[in-house]
Amino acid sequence: MSETTSFVLNGARVTSHANSDTSLALVLRNELGDKSPRIGCMLEQCGSCRVLVDDEPVFACTADLETVAGKRVETAAAIDSPVVQALLDGNAAQCGYCLAGIAVSAEALFRSHRAVGTRPARSDIVQALDAHLCRCGSQARILRLLEDVEDAS
Ligand code: FES
Ligand code: FES
Repeated sequence: MSETTSFVLNGARVTSHANSDTSLALVLRNELGDKSPRIGCMLEQCGSCRVLVDDEPVFACTADLETVAGKRVETAAAIDSPVVQALLDGNAAQCGYCLAGIAVSAEALFRSHRAVGTRPARSDIVQALDAHLCRCGSQARILRLLEDVEDAS
């Protein structure tokens, strides 16, 4: 049976023809050509697949396509913000496999604080990064760069 699911991806309406229970990460990468959500564990254990759905960080590996019908999905590939710029300018990553997911979670955190005119504390950043594994051991550098993000509030 042919199914279609529409949502807004990085500002543009898109339609997927995959089954509604297909992993969002697989739809984004294999059908829609956005490779920025990385596939790691497919078990919500590494965070490399994370995307924003209506401004909330979501594990795209275990999110079914149907859960984003009619919603706004943002991937790291299209997020242009002080948070992402700080990570890029500071050479945050080593291999970089983890970084798109980390950027997504950090962006969600800073957006939520910006909305109420506050700045995330170090403990907030640590908590936001808790969902992410970095096999290269770059966490300390990433944390330091995020603590130094300008224009956070
Ligand atoms: S691939 Fe989604 S959390 Fe690891
Ligand atoms: S920089 Fe390699 S996994 Fe994080």
